[in-house]
Amino acid sequence: MSLKICCIGAGYVGGPTMAKIAEKCADITVTVVDINEARIAAWQTDDLPVFEPGLLEIVQKTRGKNFFFSTDVDKHIEAADIIFISVNTPTKMYGVGAGRAADLKYIEACARNIARVAKGDKIIVEKSTIPVRTAETIQKILAGSGNPAKFQVLSNPEFLAEGTAMEDLDAPDRVLIGGEQTLEGLAAIETLVSVYANWVPRDNIITTNLWSSELSKLTANAFLAQRISSINAMSALCEATGADVDEVARAIGLDSRIGPKFLKASVGFGGSCFQKDILNLAYLCSHFGLPEVAAYWESVVKINDYQKHRFSQNIVQTLFGTVTGKRIALLGFAFKKDTNDTRESAAITVAQDLIEERARLRIYDPKVSKTQIFKDLDLDASGCNADGVCVVEVVTSAEEACESAHGVAILTEWDAFKTDQMDYKKIFARMEKPAFLFDGRNITDLEQLRAIGFEAKGIGKP
Ligand code: UDX
Ligand code: UDX
Repeated sequence: MSLKICCIGAGYVGGPTMAKIAEKCADITVTVVDINEARIAAWQTDDLPVFEPGLLEIVQKTRGKNFFFSTDVDKHIEAADIIFISVNTPTKMYGVGAGRAADLKYIEACARNIARVAKGDKIIVEKSTIPVRTAETIQKILAGSGNPAKFQVLSNPEFLAEGTAMEDLDAPDRVLIGGEQTLEGLAAIETLVSVYANWVPRDNIITTNLWSSELSKLTANAFLAQRISSINAMSALCEATGADVDEVARAIGLDSRIGPKFLKASVGFGGSCFQKDILNLAYLCSHFGLPEVAAYWESVVKINDYQKHRFSQNIVQTLFGTVTGKRIALLGFAFKKDTNDTRESAAITVAQDLIEERARLRIYDPKVSKTQIFKDLDLDASGCNADGVCVVEVVTSAEEACESAHGVAILTEWDAFKTDQMDYKKIFARMEKPAFLFDGRNITDLEQLRAIGFEAKGIGKP
């Protein structure tokens, strides 16, 4: 009998991951379920709710064959041998741990739902990033439910990065699977290993105990975010001393112990994971009586906040101390290129700071919708705030955004904004003079821009 997989949560993680499994394992039936009807409906069209290069092609190839979407959560839980839990785990905004702890209400709801409807044995896989020992909560809920079926809980964190999700899933550096070190636990681990072994070399599939796997995911994200905060901290020092942060990054990156990746100074990291996971890690440390460790990791988020505000303050100061009534163009709103995701995007903070300073913003992003931008900035459908002042326009090209602007800020590293791809001469011609450019991603050639006439600044650049 062929294996059936059900994934609860049709988001940025669940959708692409299941698409890859469906593509690589033709004999496995994969169904993604979600309580959000609009999202499930969108997955049935060619206008997918998640934009990832290469995703649509795979969905088109597999949809209706061995890959399905449904809102009938109970039916597919019951039918499945393996259930992935890929629901969101936002930062808890109330009660104990508010602002730091992960809110596990959706995970718990999934566990209760599985306990209620499952008639046979199931393997349950935590895909969502969760605090260490969450598997224990799931196990307790299942064990306490009175359901006689046997459940094995595995941890299988996802390391994909948005924008390169399909490549990352295709050739992951490693697949990590944690489970109970009992006969049943090891058998469940082996079942999941055999799924990934359809395309991932066995040597790249690592198995551990449950808690190591859960903690590894938080640790990986904390280390990655820490590298960005470290280089961003140095970018401030570079600006003060005349050093060039890209040159420093290259010089240290050639040390094989440090390595060249993830050393790009920027306006600040965003995305659904880094901040949330570090706050959660710090909360766990405090909970286990380790306040020094908690403070260490919290400082990574502090530097990131500092970097975002430093960028907007730099804009205000450079524009002669005031942006009141001035038009500023923001190029890019997604938290990184090649995604339509804006969660925790540095662009949100920068836009809010500039709105606070009473600038008038024109925003352009190749993939983010006007509705999303207004929502992120707490504005109504016309871009107006609670006082009825209309502060933001969302436009459909970079040129339009820069029309009569005093300054332009690059906030997302879209290739289209690079000096060799965009006609900065044309843009310069349309701007107020002096025309200022703030590259929050260091993707342009500042010398070239200066030659055109821009007063151009980068992050950590002389
Ligand atoms: C989520 C988590 O945020 C992240 O920590 C984890 O690593 C993977 O899962 P993502 O896929 O980006 O990441 O989340 P999101 O796009 O919000 O998708 C979650 C989906 O779960 C939503 O579509 C939501 O409707 C669905 N959901 C949530 C359910 O189907 N049932 C629930 O009870 C709760
Ligand atoms: C991250 C992890 O990389 C991934 O393994 C995990 O599963 C989820 O969280 P993601 O948030 O999708 O993935 O994107 P990532 O490429 O890590 O970038 C995160 C943020 O850091 C972006 O805002 C990006 O622009 C920024 N960044 C990244 C930098 O500012 N400099 C860098 O050198 C790298």
